[in-house]
Amino acid sequence: MNQGQPTAANAMVELRGVSKNFGSVEALKAVDLAVAKGQFFSLLGPSGSGKTTLLNLISGTFKPTAGRVFIDGKDATDLHASKRGLGMVFQNYALMPHMTIFENIAFPLKVRKVPSAEIKKRVEEVLELVRLPDVGARRPKELSGGQQQRISFARCIVYRPSLILMDEPLGALDKKLRKEMQLEISRLHRELNITMVYVTHDQEEALTMSDQIVVMSNGQIEQIGTAEELYFHPANPYTADFIGDSNLVYGRVKAVNGSVQVTLDDGSIVMARAEEGVSIGDAVQVLVRPESVIVQAADKPSDLPGLTGKLVETMVFGAVVKHFINLPDGRLFEATEINRRGLERIALGAQVRVSWRVEDGLVLRDRL
Ligand SMILES: Nc1ncnc2c1ncn2[C@@H]1O[C@H](COP(=O)(O)OP(=O)(O)O)[C@@H](O)[C@H]1O
Ligand SMILES: [Mg+2]
Repeated sequence: MNQGQPTAANAMVELRGVSKNFGSVEALKAVDLAVAKGQFFSLLGPSGSGKTTLLNLISGTFKPTAGRVFIDGKDATDLHASKRGLGMVFQNYALMPHMTIFENIAFPLKVRKVPSAEIKKRVEEVLELVRLPDVGARRPKELSGGQQQRISFARCIVYRPSLILMDEPLGALDKKLRKEMQLEISRLHRELNITMVYVTHDQEEALTMSDQIVVMSNGQIEQIGTAEELYFHPANPYTADFIGDSNLVYGRVKAVNGSVQVTLDDGSIVMARAEEGVSIGDAVQVLVRPESVIVQAADKPSDLPGLTGKLVETMVFGAVVKHFINLPDGRLFEATEINRRGLERIALGAQVRVSWRVEDGLVLRDRL
């Protein structure tokens, strides 16, 4: 599933067969991936899945146990972190408390022996860019958390790295500020045309900001794709469950002919769209997103095959209404519809039918 993946020629970062062990812990297992120049590339996965380890292998903080790391077409595996020419932004800002904001941002330029007139010009430029033009004389503690994070971006972009690595940079901010900063980072990415590798455990953050997303679990890549690909074509049940809300039912393939028919344990039959490599007898899961589910009173006639269950809860969330249906096997099935005036309400406890259009059912198999 490497759609949209770059070729070696335009890759800013490429990992080939990269593994990392910490003693007996296999934090990364033979990972291959490539980040195209200019991409906003996110590493998404639960805590402990290996995101920070992967980032640290790109930055040069760690050396891989096996495999090679390429940056801008050159083998950087043995290159010291300080020679890789990249910028890093962390959750804890890492600003120096005794220095003013101006001095903090100027610091990487001083280290690089940039003349002071040039330093002044560039610091003012980046303060403008992060929309805090007047805070140069202040100390970090005189700024809010969100402002400090902007300054840590400013300090990172002031020496114009072509690659920026960020490890959960918004993790310490509250939800509203996080949304604001997400827009801000997206804007900076667009304006500066920098390649960004961004670590997050927040699927919404990854889905809204990224050109490409890597879904990780247990030190391995589950899938690489755009937000759209991950949502509509998850490669396996893990990705389907991790990205968005999902209904998954288990069964065996009964027939394949333009669509796929699957028999569930209780004998009921559901449909999914045709998928390559699916054969009669295969044990599969069928994924249906809640917004694709149609809920009707069980006695209403319908042309679509579906499942019957008991409506146990209906919740109104302003713009949408969510229904929860208990299936005979004890699983909860979720259906979401737009909240319209005059929407027909079904009584709680009633028997209902859940169905979906054939093209909204997707056959999934566990990764082999
Ligand atoms: N320095 C280290 N020493 C030992 N184990 C580590 C070290 N860093 C990470 N690990 C282990 O490697 C795995 C991946 O960790 P990490 O990359 O930090 O995950 P994430 O950033 O996705 O939460 C975890 O099991 C973690 O405990
Ligand atoms: Mg981490």
